[in-house]
Amino acid sequence: MKYLLYIVVFLAFNTAGAQNTANQLIPQPVEIRQNNSAFNLTKAASVAFNNPESLHLAEMLVLRLNTATGFGLKAIQSNKGTIQLNLNQVPDPKLGAEGYVLVSTARGVVITANKNAGLFYGMQTLMQLLPMHIAGKSVVKMKWTIPAVSITDYPRFAWRGLMLDVSRHFFSKQDVMQYIDEMAKWKFNTFHWHLTDDEGWRIEIKSLPKLTEVGAWRVQRYGHFGDREVPKPGEAASEGGFYTQDDIRQVVKYAAERNITIVPEIDVPGHSMAAIASYPELSCKKDTATRVSPGMNFIDWYGNNTFKANVENALNPADENVYVFLDKVFTEVAALFPGQYIHVGGDECYKGYWAENADCQQLMKKLGIRHVEDLQGYFMNRVEAILKSKGKKLIGWDEILDGGISPEATVMSWRGIKGGIEAAKMGHDVVMSPTTFAYLDYVQGDHTVDPSIYAGLRLKKCYSFEPVPEGVDAKYVLGGQGNLWTEQIPTLRYAQYMTFPRAWALAEVYWSPKESKNWDNFIRRVETQFERSDVAGLNYSKAIYDPIVTTSLKSGKLLVTMEAEAPGLEIYYTIDDAMPDNFTAKYSQPVQLPNGPITLRVIAYRAGKPIGHLITLKRDELEKRETK
Ligand code: ACM
Repeated sequence: MKYLLYIVVFLAFNTAGAQNTANQLIPQPVEIRQNNSAFNLTKAASVAFNNPESLHLAEMLVLRLNTATGFGLKAIQSNKGTIQLNLNQVPDPKLGAEGYVLVSTARGVVITANKNAGLFYGMQTLMQLLPMHIAGKSVVKMKWTIPAVSITDYPRFAWRGLMLDVSRHFFSKQDVMQYIDEMAKWKFNTFHWHLTDDEGWRIEIKSLPKLTEVGAWRVQRYGHFGDREVPKPGEAASEGGFYTQDDIRQVVKYAAERNITIVPEIDVPGHSMAAIASYPELSCKKDTATRVSPGMNFIDWYGNNTFKANVENALNPADENVYVFLDKVFTEVAALFPGQYIHVGGDECYKGYWAENADCQQLMKKLGIRHVEDLQGYFMNRVEAILKSKGKKLIGWDEILDGGISPEATVMSWRGIKGGIEAAKMGHDVVMSPTTFAYLDYVQGDHTVDPSIYAGLRLKKCYSFEPVPEGVDAKYVLGGQGNLWTEQIPTLRYAQYMTFPRAWALAEVYWSPKESKNWDNFIRRVETQFERSDVAGLNYSKAIYDPIVTTSLKSGKLLVTMEAEAPGLEIYYTIDDAMPDNFTAKYSQPVQLPNGPITLRVIAYRAGKPIGHLITLKRDELEKRETK
């Protein structure tokens, strides 16, 4: 009886004292069992590791624990510690290279894994099991409890990536390391670094100094990307930056310590205006007036992936000097990045200048190629041979399939999932990062609230992503990633806003078992991670609290539907030019809009308090939505 009382009192204390962090984890572990006790982390604790190879991990953990607890814990090599990081003597096949087992009891926490990568992921889970204040940057006096759990966890996919575009906006080395640090917390293991594009070349190539002397800099412009004024003749280029090779080595090492492989991207043959501004002889027209684009509009888009570039931004595939150039670039890139892959872009290459070029026409004749589009296949095969000579594997956007590529090439599906399906059926390895589910540059909330860009992508849609399409053999799908293009993203803080919470959805899609997918459970966990992010100073979008307003036409009248992604919201609206609050009309079913110059104003409430943004939509905007 006394024992039972003790348990009841303990549980009451435990639940009153702290949130149950065991059901807040992202990504959801493969197996988690919770027991009725808890571990209390105190000053007397130690962090021990059983293999000297894990010293840096123990030191990293100690640093993170000490920051908020102020305990001054130490890392020691031992088989006995309050928190134990143990590498298995005999590998557990179920865990693979990245899996771990975490067992916490009243006595302490033991993490075991086959490899350091697994220990690292066990540590990330441990941090999420601690109270949210552990994510803070200053010491907090509180009880640091960890619920008693047994977790067995390992990833569904080997490739769990995020891409950051540092060309459209330059992000400092420190920004990049911070981004990598955040990725690691959600168990991403691949950082795709989009290093070159029309708007800037960001990696020092010592044998081609103009790439960064000229190509890393553009004229100063403000305002909406794509609408900016073209460079004036003689105008100084003062905006930009690049990474020295020492910077790159530092970032590579930092990432490796966090189990992140970097896949550098050199985007060719298109998206190469910065390279051409540096070395105009690499293009067909060899126009020495070519400048790095400051975000001007130089492409006419005709829809259905057809377009015309009004400024030349592709390398000339018929010029042998282009391959000499690429050999130099890839020699240095291959030496800097230890991973097996180099991404060579291949996307959105306008071939109009090739079609008009005598050397290209002659090359086509020689190769028996009838369509200029197929010259891309020739180019990509030459690039692949260069990469092979450096011991690297080629990965490219799904356009690399056009004109043919060797079966060893890995295809990154971005124009939806069809490129990935086609590639996998041809026996290519594929990485899925379709615009439809994984483009983190797309607007998360209402496009009248969030800064507008090409398209929208809600959190729920991201979470619904299934990377192995029907009819595709899963063995060809290495995994997936989210892509953050930065045309409209000038700062790291805004990059975080665009990345989270959608990257949490993708982290779960790429790590957790398909069978455990559950939106209601996920969105509840997202909200707990919001609180943690507030403590950590990590920015994120709250678009889940913004009503989703869609319209349809019924008997000639506009019917307005309002929904929200977050649970437990009440949606209030007005159509009479009053400001909405929780005393105005409450949404319960589609609203028929009366005729006239109506403006809809809508806001969500939770527990009597406004939450999310006020959305204001005039009749013409609502009418435009009707077809969307
Ligand atoms: C891409 O989004 N152009 C790959």
